[in-house]
Amino acid sequence: ADNGDSGDASDSGDSDLITVGYAQVGAESDWRTANTESFKSTFTKENGYELIFDDAQQKQENQIKAIRSFIQQGVDYIVVAPVVETGWETVLEEAKAEGIPVILSDRQMDVSDESLYECWVGGNFIKEGEDGGHWLEDYLKEKGMDGEEINMVTLQGTIGASAQVGRTEGFANVLAENDNWNMLELQTGEFTQAKGQEVMESFLKKYDDIDVVIAENDNMAFGAIDAIKAAGKTCGPDGDITIISFDAVKAAFDAMIAGDLNCAVECNPLHGPRVAEIIQKLEAGEEVDKIQYVDEELFDTSMDLEEIVKTRAY
Ligand code: AHR
Repeated sequence: ADNGDSGDASDSGDSDLITVGYAQVGAESDWRTANTESFKSTFTKENGYELIFDDAQQKQENQIKAIRSFIQQGVDYIVVAPVVETGWETVLEEAKAEGIPVILSDRQMDVSDESLYECWVGGNFIKEGEDGGHWLEDYLKEKGMDGEEINMVTLQGTIGASAQVGRTEGFANVLAENDNWNMLELQTGEFTQAKGQEVMESFLKKYDDIDVVIAENDNMAFGAIDAIKAAGKTCGPDGDITIISFDAVKAAFDAMIAGDLNCAVECNPLHGPRVAEIIQKLEAGEEVDKIQYVDEELFDTSMDLEEIVKTRAY
């Protein structure tokens, strides 16, 4: 899947460089843009790398094609942020047969043989979902609403992506402990603002009593905010509808500061330097941890967001 993206292992002409093929998910969200930028600014010639970047436009078949093309070009390492969890065995076996190490970043794969990849680094999606749920428990308590019937809907990410699977599962774990929470419906918004808005519009037509929206990323939350306002309703701490989202990109801080969004659970996209560190360890023949979770926080409108946002890199 050559989408006019950068690089080709055969044309660098510089044999000292470590060639890295990065099979990226797409460009569906602010988070993804920050993640791509993190790789492009880390894997530079000055740092000793040749990066071959591929944008799969959120399609697994494109990612598989990209990985095959990396194998054909004889890259030194393949990095994959897998669109979905399953269906990777064959192509990973092909990489293994050529002796090319595969590093997973961001989303996880569900494969029967874990030796098919070196390691994975990313956020703990189940914990993120649980953190969002526990935030809601505390928030409702503070508002004196614990025990009241609470109706909610979820804008899910790409179905089968570990970010979707984990966040849905994590939130469901907390939902199961709160008998008064009614999950009216879950539907995918594909992690995009446009689809998030479209699905939220349909939810608002179907249900006139939505109290809470769980948006499995910030961009879908932005779409939901537009849909809610267009329907003549309000959202955020002083509004009709509480919104919880995931990622905590700068635009989410803006939405919280504007009073439209209640809470953003962080998902850190800056994996470029983390993957580079893994590659350097592998180059040195060192062991790397198989599963590497990164630390993440949660932000809401009770915090000094104007100050915090100044310290944020994405
Ligand atoms: O896999 C991480 C998720 O993918 C981010 O939450 C989302 O914004 C992106 O599309």
